[in-house]
Amino acid sequence: MIETAQAFGIDIGGSGIKGAPVDLTTGTFAAERLRIPTPQPATPEAVADTVKEILDSFEVEDGTPIGIAFPAPVKPGKPLGYMSNLDQSWVGVNIEELFGERCGRKVHVLNDADAAGLAEAVFGAAKGVDGLVIATTLGTGIGTALINNGTLVPNSELGHIIIDGKGDAEKYAADSIRTKEELNWKKWGKRLTKYYKLLEFYLSPDVFVVGGGVSKKHEKFFPYIEIDTPIIPAALLNTAGIVGAAQFAAMQ
Ligand code: BGC
Repeated sequence: MIETAQAFGIDIGGSGIKGAPVDLTTGTFAAERLRIPTPQPATPEAVADTVKEILDSFEVEDGTPIGIAFPAPVKPGKPLGYMSNLDQSWVGVNIEELFGERCGRKVHVLNDADAAGLAEAVFGAAKGVDGLVIATTLGTGIGTALINNGTLVPNSELGHIIIDGKGDAEKYAADSIRTKEELNWKKWGKRLTKYYKLLEFYLSPDVFVVGGGVSKKHEKFFPYIEIDTPIIPAALLNTAGIVGAAQFAAMQ
């Protein structure tokens, strides 16, 4: 593997599985990332094969910490209890065991939004921020990470809070819904206002960090999010999941 890398990160998403060696002194990729389309259906066995393919193609050495960001709440050592946007056959799978066996080595798995939030806290927009940061990723679903005074409180699933009369928040305000329903920035901003207002009321955060691919267009929709809490775009954009996963693995 590349000499400047101290760890390897993989980010599993609904459309792509991406991996790169990470330089943890800077929070950047030590080599260009590899992206392989997520197998369809995205069953545990098929995804585990893709993860192995990525590790093999970078010749990741034994002993390198390997972190994997995954789009569901992950309790180390326990079977997955819930899956929103990948194949339902994941429920009941011990994911660290499955990937560990397939790859022939120890891997550390965490929730994808937690990985992104951790990366923002260590290297990005939430670095050195006191108090409670809520990092949100707006994509196919809505992922959330709670970081209190720099410490991650894992497995928050605040993308699924119920918006009064509208049901599950991610089915109402995710970026995928914006494109599916062809909402303009203002209409989407109004939906996001409802969402962030609820988080604001329940958790009194000090700052919101907004990630996910669409956050690079934050100037288009932030003006329509009317809340009292400061709201800032993520700094790492599409590297956050990989960098956070690698950081998490190195911390174990
Ligand atoms: C999942 C979360 C995940 C988020 C973003 C949600 O549907 O329940 O665990 O972090 O999507 O992928």
